[in-house]
Amino acid sequence: MSALFTEFKLKDVTLRNRIAVPPMCQYSAIDGFTNDWHHAHYAALARGGAGLVIVEATGVAPEGRITPGCTGLWDDAQVEGMAKIAASIKAAGAVPGIQIGHAGRKASANRPWEGDDHIANDAPGGWQTIGPSPIAFGKNLPKVPQEMTIDDIERVKADFVSAAIRARDAGFEWLELHFAHGYLAQSFFSPHSNHRTDQYGGSAENRGRFLYETFAAVREVWPQNLPLTARFGVIEFDGRDEETLAESIALVKKMREGGLDMLNVSVNFVIPETNIPWGPAFLAPYAERVRREAGLPVASSWGIDAPKNAERVVADGQMDLVMIGRAHLANPHYPYRAAQDLGVQKPSWVLPAPYAHWLERYALAE
Ligand SMILES: Cc1cc2nc3c(=O)[nH]c(=O)nc-3n(C[C@H](O)[C@H](O)[C@H](O)COP(=O)(O)O)c2cc1C
Repeated sequence: MSALFTEFKLKDVTLRNRIAVPPMCQYSAIDGFTNDWHHAHYAALARGGAGLVIVEATGVAPEGRITPGCTGLWDDAQVEGMAKIAASIKAAGAVPGIQIGHAGRKASANRPWEGDDHIANDAPGGWQTIGPSPIAFGKNLPKVPQEMTIDDIERVKADFVSAAIRARDAGFEWLELHFAHGYLAQSFFSPHSNHRTDQYGGSAENRGRFLYETFAAVREVWPQNLPLTARFGVIEFDGRDEETLAESIALVKKMREGGLDMLNVSVNFVIPETNIPWGPAFLAPYAERVRREAGLPVASSWGIDAPKNAERVVADGQMDLVMIGRAHLANPHYPYRAAQDLGVQKPSWVLPAPYAHWLERYALAE
């Protein structure tokens, strides 16, 4: 009996298995609008058999995009394309999810394969970034963000709310707030990037205020019967780890009490120089700790792709869902391969009939 291939129910949503496709930017949008690339990409992933497919980090404002090629939901006109994507994911039997976020001081960068570095403000695709304090990330992202005023903070929170409403209207059934990876929310929480002296800086409670208030405002508009989740880095691997974990878990607990349904546990990525212990499923023990101490279901990713590892982290209770990223880019039918590897009976059932019929009837030559 496979733990990975059991259903998972959260609120009114049931995933057919514990495999999720995490948000992965395609950097292929124009002015935030999706196109045929996104449609084919997400439909293929959903047809591959995952229980949940989360659409890439989607900007709540134009200046909140990581690159000029990132998708957006700041304009009602962007809903139609997203609705087509959500419908195609659902038609393939997966639950359609989306991640919304603001890239803060890491915004306005070139696509990864075009340099991954900041674009000058006066060049095409360049814009003035914003952040909690005028502190640059450094290295390839040297632009100094403009310190956000209280009005800016209120505006971005309202942008998250409007984008959440548009995501709901597009038919998404799972919302993930991007509070990770050094982008705006994560940069508010980290003392590396937040040196504010007002109510949004200083103590962990103050540094967490932007995240909590944004989450709480979205909770008001996101349907109560659908999962509201966040992706949040709980550790930086900068030598301050126990403190960061304790502060992060306290904030997660508070959000759980306020109606957060699940956490996608990740890394902070707020500073360029860290000692991340890259390796298979290296975040699993941290995900388990958040699950136990904050008392909510968790998902996580980073190198869990070997099916035996994916099975183990679920069977051992380290996480409720596994996020399989790059392995899905290599093979959109990853769940089929995982089922085969794990000896799940009739692995073809994870695929749609036009594929499954042939694989069941005629085994592939080894
Ligand atoms: C092409 C690409 C784009 C990504 N875009 C996002 C994103 O939009 N939001 C996010 O939270 N993480 C993003 N990530 C991180 C993935 O969600 C995932 O955590 C990472 O790939 C590690 O999982 P893996 O080892 O299974 O690939 C991206 C990763 C890749 C490879």
